[in-house]
Amino acid sequence: MAVNIEVNENRRYGIRSPLIYGHFIEHFHRQIYDGIYDPESPLADEDGFRTDIIEAMKKIKVPILRWPGGCFVSSYHWKEGVGDNRKPFFDKAWRVEDPNTFGTDEFIKLCQKIGCEPYICTNAGTGTAEEMSDWVEYCNLDHEGQYAKWRIQNGFRDPHNVKYWSIGNENYGSWEIGAKSAEEWGRLVREAGKMMKHVDPQAELSAAALPNIEWNINLLKNAGEFIDWVSIHEYWDMVPEKNDLATYEQCMAFTKHIDHAVEEVRGLLKAMKLDKKIKIAFDEWNLRSWHHPNVHTIKQGIHKKDYIDPRDKNDDNSQYTMADAIFTASFLSAMNRNCDIVGLANFAPILNTRGCLYSNSEGIVLRSTYHVFDLYVNYLGDTIIDSWSEEVPTMKVNHKNGVEIEIESLDILATKWIDKPGIALAIINKLSDEGQTITLSFPFPPTGKSVSLYGISGEAPDSYNDVGKNEITIFKEDLGDYSKNMEIQLKSHSVNIIQIGARHPLNSE
Ligand code: AHR
Repeated sequence: MAVNIEVNENRRYGIRSPLIYGHFIEHFHRQIYDGIYDPESPLADEDGFRTDIIEAMKKIKVPILRWPGGCFVSSYHWKEGVGDNRKPFFDKAWRVEDPNTFGTDEFIKLCQKIGCEPYICTNAGTGTAEEMSDWVEYCNLDHEGQYAKWRIQNGFRDPHNVKYWSIGNENYGSWEIGAKSAEEWGRLVREAGKMMKHVDPQAELSAAALPNIEWNINLLKNAGEFIDWVSIHEYWDMVPEKNDLATYEQCMAFTKHIDHAVEEVRGLLKAMKLDKKIKIAFDEWNLRSWHHPNVHTIKQGIHKKDYIDPRDKNDDNSQYTMADAIFTASFLSAMNRNCDIVGLANFAPILNTRGCLYSNSEGIVLRSTYHVFDLYVNYLGDTIIDSWSEEVPTMKVNHKNGVEIEIESLDILATKWIDKPGIALAIINKLSDEGQTITLSFPFPPTGKSVSLYGISGEAPDSYNDVGKNEITIFKEDLGDYSKNMEIQLKSHSVNIIQIGARHPLNSE
């Protein structure tokens, strides 16, 4: 029995910001060193950057890149990472030495090569409000003061123009270096925001928040005047200590109410009459948390085999299957639907660890999630339009906590373009062993318009890509011209973009 989906392109919900397809890169494991920055590599350019990785990032049009952390930043002092006499430092968050050869100026160069906005997260752990504002001086002042002059001396005449800044990272967490109480946090963000805006009034400031009333009320009461965003983070399959990953079915359970945190924060911003001024930056998200045992714990690992070597497990490409792809698509569809309040999101991370890209000394692997970004960025519209169906079948799945829940087996999002003809729907079939048939109805049927389907599914739910192995790639189906009641087949465990009347060259081809 086909599931009928109604679409009304005249009912517009909003325009999604391209920044929701943003990414994050941290000084952790092989993301920076032996990752994107590898001067010794034959695949690197004159500045030490892997050109194959940069090309892959450009193909998914990375719009913004958050750096340098994550937990790493809460004991990172930016001044030690610029200029000639750089000093290696012991990174107390991840308990490794950082050579400081990749700093602010290298990050800005990387963003220029990718063609994306830089998004700098500041040290609100061991750092001060002054150190944060000095960083803004270094990046954004033309020549005034010692830091802008230092930038010029380091070979960068023009300001780096860093528009997006986050004050701190997860400073509410016991695992974070220099964690703060809600009261301390409100005051620090206020003073930091004041000093950073005094340096660059056009800087857009976010601050570490979470779906927690007490923390957010303190933050917004004390610093609401100075910030433009609140940062929230979420990983659903939490495996920092034991790398026992959720199954396909359990991952489907995680897609239920995937935007709960957005709703909670939206409610509070509305209640405090700040929802027109402050937006949500979901600046760290992924299905799977990173695996790094014996560091976010009170008791620290003694031997490297206890806390360093296990991090290599993140690199096992067989872990990144259609479960990750379908969860990632479900999240991106939810952020599109919340485009009124979510203006920025960063997949964590972009490279290696749980990233959508994997690299080794020979080349790269495009993991299942990479193709989801390719589909959403290059095949989907930017304007959210109305779509609904009363017939979406549900499915029973067991959550990782053992509870059986019921979820909708189809996720539906309809879009069009501001400046191009056509409609594009993102439809996700979460059933692991069954295809689904849909029909599309419109008040003004696009009769005769061409219909194309672009999608990924893999042969099986646990299909994955690896070195010399490409089980998940984007396939295309030409479905002919639209006619009322035409039936469209969706493969099992698949992410699909259905374009109607979008006869414009696809950015990705
Ligand atoms: O596991 C990675 C860490 O997760 C990031 O550094 C931090 O921001 C989050 O807790």
